[in-house]
Amino acid sequence: MAGNSASVRGSFGSKFGVIAAAAGSAVGLGNIWKFPYITGVYGGAAFLFVYLGFIVAIGLPVMISEFTIGRKARKNAFGSFKKLAPKTPWYVTGFLGVGAAYLILSFYGVVAGWAMNYTVEALKGSFNGKTPDELTSFFTSFIASPFKPIFWQLSFMFLTGLIVIMGVQKGIERYSKLLMPLLVVILIILMFRSMTLPGASKGLAFLFKPDFSKLTWEGVLSALGHAFFSLSLGMGTLITYGSYINNKNNLGKTALQVTLADTVIAIFAGMVILPAVFAFNIEPGAGPGLVFITLPNVFLQMPGGYFFSILFFILLTVAALTSSISILEVVVAFLSEELKMSRRIATILAASSIALVGAFCSLSMGHLDYAIFLGKNFFDTVDFFSANIFLPFGGLFISLFMGWHLGRKKTLKELSNHGEIKIWYIKPLIFSLRFIAPIAIFIVSIYGIYENVVSYLASLN
Ligand code: TRP
Repeated sequence: MAGNSASVRGSFGSKFGVIAAAAGSAVGLGNIWKFPYITGVYGGAAFLFVYLGFIVAIGLPVMISEFTIGRKARKNAFGSFKKLAPKTPWYVTGFLGVGAAYLILSFYGVVAGWAMNYTVEALKGSFNGKTPDELTSFFTSFIASPFKPIFWQLSFMFLTGLIVIMGVQKGIERYSKLLMPLLVVILIILMFRSMTLPGASKGLAFLFKPDFSKLTWEGVLSALGHAFFSLSLGMGTLITYGSYINNKNNLGKTALQVTLADTVIAIFAGMVILPAVFAFNIEPGAGPGLVFITLPNVFLQMPGGYFFSILFFILLTVAALTSSISILEVVVAFLSEELKMSRRIATILAASSIALVGAFCSLSMGHLDYAIFLGKNFFDTVDFFSANIFLPFGGLFISLFMGWHLGRKKTLKELSNHGEIKIWYIKPLIFSLRFIAPIAIFIVSIYGIYENVVSYLASLN
């Protein structure tokens, strides 16, 4: 019976709960670890402006689509497509999404484990008295060691599973409501510290004064990929969350608020990290190690650095946790609805098998560092497949599904809560979903794959 299956599904209890959970999903390592460093790598403000353009033109429309698909179908990512497009191959999109969730979380958990370990190291004062070189080898030898990073990765996955097992409202929503305000408070304290450092204004100029001559095509393409990653789009996370949103919610408005929160928090994270980096004359283009190698350097030189380093790594861990629960929920919702498992069994099975794959990701940074695909080790292969293939193609199919399959009339009906709210933006929305998003995503992913193959072939010579 329809009523029966609806009653066992979870749901979010309040409007703030929806925002906290969805913004909690979006705000993560992508904002605090990745955004500042890729902005640094691609030259600062010009990259930021292109990123913002993609967020508005593509990210927001796709986010509205995911919420709409999920709420209309009231199913997990895979089941949603099966229900809205029966007897068609659209369900492959949902299936890809569940697979991507599995892969993303396996390496996400590893990086989040690093953040947990660094919280403890900050507490112990382990960065004290270390030279920049020593801090570099502190990081590289840690991530390559066999046990310690896996211990932290497993601890992080355990926490993630613990929250998800408690359910949509009592687990995910409750902890998002608790952790997201904490995250914002810590971020504001750190921002204040960073902006009052002498020399901070150079960092702000780097972030906000565009120099478009520095922008490369590669930068443009990374901006699009990062827009997807940062907003949690392309694999059904927000389809799954959308399926828990009640029928009165204004989905367009919710998507706008989540997008704003994610973007503002990324910019704030940039305002924490870049002024500090410039104030101490450190290279902003340091890459993925920016947060784990460069920042401890900065904290060492900064008054109150001990205290602020602890706060920073707590921030990173909390941000990762509210994202990882949303990724795990994609798999758990799939297993419990499609394979009729209890939430408990589904969570234990998903979390432990993802943790196992994650352990191999972690080992591939050290003991198992063999190239297995296009010269990449296991960690980089998993990262490459999920971020450069699954996510963009997922986003492409979601756009096409909404724009062409569901179409303007059905979309409008769901988005307007059956005519209760006026959707003035329906025209540009459908236009982006039909043309702008699919074409841009197609170009980006093909280019991304091409570039990787070319650089691999070049490395062979
Ligand atoms: N958006 C999160 C971050 O910025 C990560 C994340 C959560 C994600 N769910 C996702 C990324 C779904 C891609 C797809 O860290």
